[in-house]
Amino acid sequence: MQQITDICRRMLQAELDRHSFLIALGGGVVGDAAGFAAAIFQRGIPVVQIPTTVVAQVDSSVGGKTGVNTPEGKNLIGAFHQPDLVFADVSTLGTLPEREYNEGFAEIIKHAAIRDASLLDLVEKIGREKTQLTELITRNVAIKAAIVEEDERETTGTRALLNFGHTIGHGIEAAAGYGKMLHGEAISLGLVAAIRLSQKYSSLSNTEAQRLIAALELLRLPTQLDPGIDRKTVLQTLRLDKKFVDGQIRFVLLKSLGNAFVSKEVSFTDIETALNDLYP
Ligand SMILES: NC(=O)c1ccc[n+]([C@@H]2O[C@H](COP(=O)([O-])OP(=O)(O)OC[C@H]3O[C@@H](n4cnc5c(N)ncnc54)[C@H](O)[C@@H]3O)[C@@H](O)[C@H]2O)c1
Ligand SMILES: [Zn+2]
Repeated sequence: MQQITDICRRMLQAELDRHSFLIALGGGVVGDAAGFAAAIFQRGIPVVQIPTTVVAQVDSSVGGKTGVNTPEGKNLIGAFHQPDLVFADVSTLGTLPEREYNEGFAEIIKHAAIRDASLLDLVEKIGREKTQLTELITRNVAIKAAIVEEDERETTGTRALLNFGHTIGHGIEAAAGYGKMLHGEAISLGLVAAIRLSQKYSSLSNTEAQRLIAALELLRLPTQLDPGIDRKTVLQTLRLDKKFVDGQIRFVLLKSLGNAFVSKEVSFTDIETALNDLYP
């Protein structure tokens, strides 16, 4: 919030007004902060997103969710503010450190899992080679944009499908301590758990499950939890998750590769078991 105040005050001091616009050049942190500043400056000015990380290009720059973190939690203060233009230049990805590059594929593999099985073919084909990036990014933006268009404010449940892998993933991310594990790395583990729960509670086949897990491994994303991350702390974080009502949660599962739905069948005990199975 302090950063947002500083940005807005500097814009006022530079005599920007409601006819001005903001350009967010950078990763998801810059995009979310600049988007939020644009949402509240003079009650809202246009924002242009120029994302420079895989995460920002395939995920955060599209969809209009903006906001900041507070000590109370991630993304609890924010606004929906759609960008007027998103300009993703894949050549910017060339300077990303390998870990940050790979991390973005957790969201890409998530997109394939929930909406587009054929996207997984492309991921398997290019692996960690930085080829066909324009096609890769374009297809991911199309998936994210289509889901957001169907349910912009997350009211009908369609947008909630984008949370696949994120319930357990967020718990792991928070328990590891923010900054220790990259978001995409924690989500990779959340995806593995959600994939296994999809086999148990829905019709996801073993072959499809193994394909998804192998794709995460191809991108050097973790599929086993570091025993240094305390199981009880993860469970405690998950238990505090406001999404649980009477021990039940709306949990995203896969019927098959490319086909996701929201289930009410998954209990806290199931999640506990899925978490245990992540440890070697
Ligand atoms: N709004 C949404 O819908 C949404 C979706 C997903 C994630 N997010 C948010 O996005 C943030 C994560 O975004 P991120 O993964 O882009 O992280 P980030 O913005 O922290 O960027 C990662 C690192 O890469 C550096 N960097 C950026 N572009 C670079 C480039 N081209 N070459 C070299 N280094 C570069 C950055 O300076 C930073 O150190 C989180 O805060 C998350 O909550 C938002
Ligand atoms: Zn995510």
